[in-house]
Order: sequence, then structure tokens, then C-alpha cells
Amino acid sequence: MRSKPRRKTTAMTQYADIKKDFPDTIVFFQLGDFYEAFNEDAKRISKVLNITLTSRSMGGGNARIPLAGVPVKAIDSYLKKLVDNGDKVAIVDQLEDAKKLPSGKIVKRGVTRVVTPGTVFESSILDDTINNFMLSLVINERKKNIGLSLVDISTGELLISEINKNVIERFKDEFTRFHPKEIIIPETNQRGDLQLLIEDVINLSSNTMVSPVNETLFNLQTARETLLDHFQVKSLSGFGCELMEEGIRATGAVISHLAMLKPDYPSNLTSMKLLDDSSSLILDSNTQRNLEIIGNAFDGRVAGSLLSVFSDIHSSTGARLLRRWLLQPLRDNLSINARLDAVHAFYSNPEVCDHINHLIASIADFQRLISKIKYHSANGRDLSSLMNSINASLEIQHFLSQSPLECEITHKIISFKSTDLVDIRDLIIQAIQDDPPIKITEGGIIKPEFHEELFELYELKINQKAILTEVEVHEQNRTSFNIKLGYNSVHGYYIEATKAQLRDAGEDAIPSDYTRRQTLVNAERFITPRLKEIEEKILNLDEKIMDLEYNLFCEVRDKISENLTQVKSFSDLLAEVDVLTCFASTALKNNYCRPLIIEGSKIKIREGRHAVVEHLQHDTGFVPNSILLEEGELHIVTGPNMSGKSTLIRQVALMILMAQTGSWVPAKSFEFGIVDKIFTRVGAFDRLAFGQSTFMLEMLETSHILHNATENSLVILDEVGRGTSTFDGLSLAWAIAEHIVVNIKCKTLFATHYHQLSELVERSSRVKNFHLTAKERNGELMLLYKLHQGATDHSFGISVAKMAGVPQSVIYNAQKKLLELESTSSHKPMTKGVGEKTGQPRQLSLAEAFSQNISKDKYEEELKSLKFTILAFLKSYTGIDVNYKTPIEALKQLEELIEELKKLEHKIEEK
Ligand SMILES: Nc1ncnc2c1ncn2[C@@H]1O[C@H](COP(=O)(O)OP(=O)(O)O)[C@@H](O)[C@H]1O
Ligand SMILES: [Mg+2]
Repeated sequence: MRSKPRRKTTAMTQYADIKKDFPDTIVFFQLGDFYEAFNEDAKRISKVLNITLTSRSMGGGNARIPLAGVPVKAIDSYLKKLVDNGDKVAIVDQLEDAKKLPSGKIVKRGVTRVVTPGTVFESSILDDTINNFMLSLVINERKKNIGLSLVDISTGELLISEINKNVIERFKDEFTRFHPKEIIIPETNQRGDLQLLIEDVINLSSNTMVSPVNETLFNLQTARETLLDHFQVKSLSGFGCELMEEGIRATGAVISHLAMLKPDYPSNLTSMKLLDDSSSLILDSNTQRNLEIIGNAFDGRVAGSLLSVFSDIHSSTGARLLRRWLLQPLRDNLSINARLDAVHAFYSNPEVCDHINHLIASIADFQRLISKIKYHSANGRDLSSLMNSINASLEIQHFLSQSPLECEITHKIISFKSTDLVDIRDLIIQAIQDDPPIKITEGGIIKPEFHEELFELYELKINQKAILTEVEVHEQNRTSFNIKLGYNSVHGYYIEATKAQLRDAGEDAIPSDYTRRQTLVNAERFITPRLKEIEEKILNLDEKIMDLEYNLFCEVRDKISENLTQVKSFSDLLAEVDVLTCFASTALKNNYCRPLIIEGSKIKIREGRHAVVEHLQHDTGFVPNSILLEEGELHIVTGPNMSGKSTLIRQVALMILMAQTGSWVPAKSFEFGIVDKIFTRVGAFDRLAFGQSTFMLEMLETSHILHNATENSLVILDEVGRGTSTFDGLSLAWAIAEHIVVNIKCKTLFATHYHQLSELVERSSRVKNFHLTAKERNGELMLLYKLHQGATDHSFGISVAKMAGVPQSVIYNAQKKLLELESTSSHKPMTKGVGEKTGQPRQLSLAEAFSQNISKDKYEEELKSLKFTILAFLKSYTGIDVNYKTPIEALKQLEELIEELKKLEHKIEEK
């Protein structure tokens, strides 16, 4: 019988063993100073990272395999690219020092970490103003509910939640708010209805990775035990989630999952909070987007969003908190007022504010620093930076205790027990060199005075030569030989005497502690116990120092790691101060006022502005408007295109949002009753940029409002109904508005170009009409952005087109069509137009016009309208102001005019 050949362990067999556990993950395998990827992984990374693909014969055979690698030192930047690209990476490190192994022995290797989009913690890879969440999701098809857990391992945050009602909508809201980079779900082949719907929501986001993981992790019993064990508690009731079975499943699973990716990961999750929306202002996912809170509607970037107005943020932790606050404003009077008070206090003491900001700016990203320490990846510089940051924090504490400024947050800071902070700082000062190197394995990182043995080693290193000279002199005196101290790699340090000397002195003269080691032609070499003792210390001194320093550094880091709770809490307070001082300086800079919370649900704004539009058009100015929205009122806002309808109705929502976040608002004065939910819907036409123009979607979203708004909600409807044909849209808009006024009784602002909606006033005293004004002068449209009571009947569409630079000939044809329609239309609108009341001709939209099937080619009508043609022609040219044209433009216009005149001449001749 032939025995199976024993497999020789080579680096490649080691690799193969590891790779089989990570089939869908790129394995980075450390070979000295490089991380190498092989085979398909190599091809993939060479493409994504744009690095050379080579090949190499591995493990003795002739076959060559594809290979690509990156330097160990530079791994971070490459990881970022791969993770951004949606790849997972397993890092296989050398676990032993190859130099210390006997030659020929293979160094031990193992997976030290798996990096996925949701498990990145390096600040060099992450955007420091944004959280990096991993979402764990459990769907219970039977109970029709879901459990959620959100983890940011880079900041140590852990949130638990369960959604039992309105599951899809609520999931969408949280998904939009937290924007997880990665979702883990139980691996399963049976996907129920609920799961399919949830997947639809997830699929809308292109940059979220979904990772199915072993189903058993989500088992209720296992998950509960994981949590009890992780937090070292007997029951979960202290966290308020005892009854959330699905929430527990999701959270327990994510903790176990993380531990498998890197055993240290869960250690940073020291507390668990309920993701509870009963205490916050609810902004559903559409509202988060439509109000452009943290990203603009065009490309999602910060520019042009509400967030961009609050630019005076000085720390990363503050920046992340600001995002969170803006997306989750408060709902209770007391907490809102506590924030408003704080803003007031900072607002009134700008120099205090400046000094604090100056100090905050010198503080490192505490949360991510803490994670690095917890994950054993912090180096000497990180500890130095921790020390400096603690110093600055203590200075803030001291400074505030001396300042006249008083509010809840400063009280919390002043009375904060900072003993651990002081201890950590002192430990770092004692242990870590002032300007430590990046590497922690090469010495120079620990102060010698910190540790007795280290101190001695350094002494030895400095005195090495002197000590050896001293031995030499000592031996010479003792023996009267003219001995020499020498060193070779085989025997180490030795004492050498010439044979001639020894012969002269005789054998007896050789001290008894001398041991003969080597005989040369002319000399003898000896060692003594004392020499060996010194040699022991001197030899490999550098290596010893490096090893000892490394161990000491790890001890210091571990000690700090166990005592970071206070640092974490203090950094949370500082983040709040950062945001609140930012609110104060924004208020000061932009002339905001302090909101006043009143009983009931009225909104009263004197000279309010749109925070973002005002910010963007700093130079041209912004026209303020006053609004009084009484309980249960619906205001219909009409006005020409571009007259500021959307801006106006959004600015009301933004002001509520800002106020309930604790910020001041852009107005002369602002009083409001607390709002429980804000809903905003934008008609499909206005959202084409989003690529979601279906009318169905618009109606689904609207129906969500009708089901969920309460009388304490604020509803913003912008051109809803626009996504379908005129009469459908109008009818729907009408019915929706009526339902809101009659049944829901929430405050509503409805911007619409359906003038007919103005008729709603006749149905309820709680409906009011407003319009934004514009003036036409010399054929040019002047937008005044001023809100007036009453309806408007003129849409100025053609003037707007003209302003937008639509060619003169088109404007002319439109003018003509308009005049024609106005005079010949036999159409009666479905409701009496306001225009008819006032006796003015009413302008029809083009869609309306076509829906009336006006035959536009009839010769006699053409003739009849000739007069309008001429009139329109004249109208379209008399408004041109040549003073505002370049000579070329004027010339062009003249050419156009001549051309048109010719056509006109031709036409008149024809008729
Ligand atoms: N109150 C205002 N003061 C100054 N400019 C404004 C004001 N309101 C709106 N604008 C400007 O007019 C543009 C169009 O406003 P928008 O609200 O979109 O109009 P509408 O919804 O009526 O078509 C805005 O982008 C802004 O530049
Ligand atoms: Mg608009």
C-alpha cells in the first residue's frame, strides 16, 4: 500500500488553507514587506488598484501563478480603494518574526482581520465627518416586523431597534438617515414578501454592500446570550430592549459576526442605545431628501444643503453629531430649550465661543482614536495625540469653570469627573517619548526613565565601551598580563593573552575563573563568568531594547484601553459643545433669531428666509416673507414659475427643523408649536433629476402622508399632481388638499400652478390663498418674491421662458398661441377660474389647450388671428433693451427681426 505523500508546509500550502475559507474575499498574504494576492485575487486587485500583475512559480513546481502585491506600509490607501469598490479583504499577517526562526522554518501566518465596507475604522480610509454604519437586519415574515442594529465600529456606537408598524416606510426612513455602508442579513433561500420589499428599498442605494451571513447567528437564544455575555449583565431590561426579539436577534448577530472578522471589534461597543423615534421629530426618507438636509437633491453632495450652512464645526466628532442632530431633531420642549439656551449663552459670549473652538480644533478625533486603541492598532503618535487632546479638553473644562457663561452643557462639562483623563494623560507623559516614531517595533518610543530595566539597557548602550575598557583594565591589573579584550561571533567576548606572556608567567598565574576557549598559533583566549554576564547584557542590546519597548508600549496601550469610558463620555460632551457653538456663530453671522416654542401648533414667522438659498445668493440678497400658519390651516401658494414658491414653503419646514434641532432660525422672529412629523412631497416633474418621475410613486408617497400625518404635523406639498395629465392632476391635488383640511387638520403649505385650487377657500375657512408676486415691465418679467394674500391668475410662463434665453422665434410663436387661445377658447374650466371673477382673461396651460383639440391649421382661423400674430410679434420685440446686449447679440437680433418681418410680409401678401 502506498502511503499518501506528506504535504510539505510551504507558504503556498499555508495560503491555500486560508484561502479556502475566504472564497469571495480577496486574501492579502504577507510575504515580508509585501501583501501579495494570488490567482483570481491578483487579477482583480491589479485591475482595481491599477498595479502590475506578474507571475511567479511558487512551491517548487514549474507552473507559474498570477501574483500582485502592495507594500505592507501602504496598505491603508489600497484598502480604501478596494473597499470603496465593494470588495472584502482578508489580511493574513506573519505572526512570528521571521528573523528569529531557525532557517528553513516557515513563519506562522493567520488572518488578523477581515475588512469590509462596514468594518473599516482607520481614519485615513474614512470620511471623518460621516459615520460608517453597518446594519444588521432580521425580517420576521410571520410577525411582519423587522429588527435592526446599527454599528459603527470606528466610533464605538451601537443602536438597537425594532419596527413593527409601517415597516417598509420606516425602514426606508432609517436607511436614508443612517446610510449604512454594509448590511448583514441571515443567509437564506426562502425570501418572503416582506424581504423582497425591503430588498427593493436597499437596491435603490448603489453603494451599500449586502453580506448574507450564517443564519444561526440570528437565532434568538444565541443572540440574547451573546448580548448578555458581551455586556456582562443578567438581563437586557436595563437597555430597554428586553422585549424586542427581532432587535435582539439583529444585535446579537452583528456582535458575533464582528468578533469573527476580528476578535477585538466588539470590545469597542461598550454601550447600546435604543434607536427610538418617539422623542424625535420624524422626517421620512422623502423629507430628508426633499429638504436637502445633508446633501443637495442634485448630486447628494453637501454643497447647497442645510448642512453646508453650518460650516463652523471644529471637530470630526462634532461634524458627525451635527449630521445626526439635523436628521433627528427633537420633539420635547425641555431638551429643545436646553439647546436653544446653550446657543443663546454662546451667542452672547462670542469671545468665549472663539476660544473654545480654538481648543476644540486642536483635539483629535477622540472616537476614532479610541477605536484604534481598542483594536490594538494605535501607535506612539496616536497616544501622543490622545495626550494632547486630553490636555486641550482639560483646558476647556478649566476655561469654562472660569467663564461667566452658564448653560446645561457647560455645567455638565465643569462638573465632569475627569480623574481617568488626568491619569491617562500622566501615564502617556511618563511613558511615551515626546516625538515618538510611527513604528512601534523599532524602539525610541518609551522614555527610559519609565522602566528600570529599560533604563539600565539604555545606560549599558551608552556605557558599553567604557564598561569593556573597565573590564580590560581590571583584568590587566589582576593578572599582570598585557591582555586584550576581543569579540567574535562564535565565542562572544573573550580575554586574549599571548602565548609568550603565558609562558613567562607560568600556568599558575592564570586566574582560576578563566576558562580556556580557543587556542591560536600565538595566543590563548579565555572567558570568565563576569565577562559572560556583561556579554549577556551587551549583546543584542538594540534588539532587547526594541522588544522591551514594544512590550511596554503594548502594556501602556492596554492599560489606557481599559480606562477609556470617561474619555468617551467627555468627547461626547465636547462634540455637543462644538455643534452648539457652531449654531451660535452661524446665528451671529447670518442674523438668525431665537425661536420661541409656544403652546398649540401655530407657526408665526416674521420676515423669514430660506437658510440655504440665502446663503447661496449672498450677493444678490434674499427677500424675506412673513407667514402666519394657524392650527389646521392649509395655505395654497400660487405664482409664476420661478417666483419662489418652492423656496417659500420649504423655508417654513427648514425653520421648524432647525428650531427643533436647537438652532436659531433665519427670521426676525419665529414662534411655533412643536411639530411631530414633517412630510414633504414634490410633484414628479420637479424631481426629474432624481430619475423617479413615475406618477405612481408620487401617489404612493402622498398616500403615506394621508395615513400618517397628525394634526401636529407639517405637510409641504410642492406641485403634487403634476405627474399626470392636467385634469387628473388637478382633481387629485384638489382631493388630497381637501382630505388634509377636513380630516387630518395638519398645517399644510401647498405650492401649485393649478390656479383652480384657489377655489378651495370656498370649502373651508381653514384654507387660505397666497401668491408670490411678479411684475411685467416692457415685456420683461420682474420677480419680486413677495408673498401676498389672495390668489393669482397669471403664470408669466412666456416671460420666464424669455428670461431663460429661449430663442426669440419660439417666444414669438408662444405669444401668438397664447393670444389666440385667450380669444378663441370656448373652453370652460372645470372650476370657475379666479380670472373670470376679476374679468381678466385666464391663461391656459399648453396641456389644457391641447386637451381641447383646438384645430390650429385652419386657414380662416389663421387669417382671423393675423392681428394677434402681429400683436405678439410686436410684443416680443418691444421689450428688448439693447443697452443690455453685446453688439454681436444686437446684430443677431436685428437679423432675426428682419427675417421675421419678411415672413410677416409674405404672410400678409398671401392672405
Ligand atoms: N425670497 C426670495 N428672495 C430671493 N430670491 C429668491 C427667493 N425665493 C426664490 N428665489 C430665487 O428664485 C429661484 C426659484 O425659486 P423657486 O422657489 O424654485 O420658484 P418656484 O417654485 O416658484 O418655481 C430660487 O432658486 C432662488 O434663486
Ligand atoms: Mg417650484
